[in-house]
Amino acid sequence: MTNTIPQDLPLRNDLIGEVPYGAPQLDVPVCLNVNENPYQPEPAVVDEIAERVRQVAPTLNRYPDREHTALREAFARYLKRESGVWLDVGQIWGANGSNEIMLQVFQAFGGPGRKALGADPTYSMYPEYARDTFTQWLTVPRRDDFTLDLDALLRAMGREKPAIVLLTSPNNPTGTILPMDDLEAVLKASAEIGVAGAKDGVHPVVVVDEAYIEFRDPGMPTALELLGRYPNLAVSRTMSKAFAFAGARVGYLAASPGIIDCVRIVRMPYHLSAVTQATALAALEHTDEQLAQVSHLRETREATADWLKHQTWHGQPLKVADSQSNFLLFGGSFDDRDRIFDELLKRGVLIRVVGPEGWLRVCMGIDEEMARFREALTEVLAQLEHE
Ligand SMILES: Cc1ncc(COP(=O)(O)O)c(C=O)c1O
Repeated sequence: MTNTIPQDLPLRNDLIGEVPYGAPQLDVPVCLNVNENPYQPEPAVVDEIAERVRQVAPTLNRYPDREHTALREAFARYLKRESGVWLDVGQIWGANGSNEIMLQVFQAFGGPGRKALGADPTYSMYPEYARDTFTQWLTVPRRDDFTLDLDALLRAMGREKPAIVLLTSPNNPTGTILPMDDLEAVLKASAEIGVAGAKDGVHPVVVVDEAYIEFRDPGMPTALELLGRYPNLAVSRTMSKAFAFAGARVGYLAASPGIIDCVRIVRMPYHLSAVTQATALAALEHTDEQLAQVSHLRETREATADWLKHQTWHGQPLKVADSQSNFLLFGGSFDDRDRIFDELLKRGVLIRVVGPEGWLRVCMGIDEEMARFREALTEVLAQLEHE
């Protein structure tokens, strides 16, 4: 899309030259670029969703439940089932995708004079939440294997005194999980330091973005387990990924009631429409069906990682970052990754140019899509090596 913004519009100075964020939305046979669950809802779930929307339709002259209490109760039941952690409604908050959750977190705790700290490479929307809320976005580099450099992060926390420490587990675009020991170290450190731009006695909030956590190997812990002990911890989740509900735009936050109350201050009134609440409730009642393919996607990830490691580029095996998610960052030494992306696209396979130079990201699709990805990549690597 071309930029048609007239010069005489009073666009904010810091937004001049900026473009809207978003991966290309292209009509191609194999879309492996935005980390969705590739499996559609089952017909019975579709019927249930349609019925629930029909039921709320006659009430659409009225505003929806601003507090979305029934939905928060359903999230509580889901989290108990998924992670074994029981939370009260007052510890849960929903919004239109975890993108909106995170923007609300930045609106509540960021702002002029405030800083937020993360670990690069990470999700590319974080700098945008910061920009949009006039928060300074800072990062420390991850280690070569993309694990968190805990010492560097703790040093940066002490030096910068961020209001928000934002860690992603599994991380996007690398798939790296955050070890609980590292998280506890960050939480303990945050209780000891102040916040730049805030009054004395204030400590950073530590936000863990667990958008992809349901894809972790069974038995691995989640940050939710630490909520009871650390009131400055907040965990962001979404229905967009494993839950196969990206189109409905539903995310949620689990945190202490204090953090939830801070976020409630900045939310738009009635931000979650009655239709969104109804569809999310219907889908949550069919959790088994919605999550049915998660273990298969995990197997696909492992099989694809193994396959990728056996492919070569200029005589060297491809690198694959350890992933606990539904995507893989691979390559590591592609001298012209855009070319590989373009050639795959010509063959109907859309992946993502993201992360450090030399790497590409592919998200797990259904079996047929993965077969086409493997076939196309084999062809492209062979072709480009012989050019
Ligand atoms: C790490 C991470 N967090 C949050 C999101 C936002 O997801 P949504 O707004 O669909 O919940 C994404 C989307 O790709 C993501 O990768």
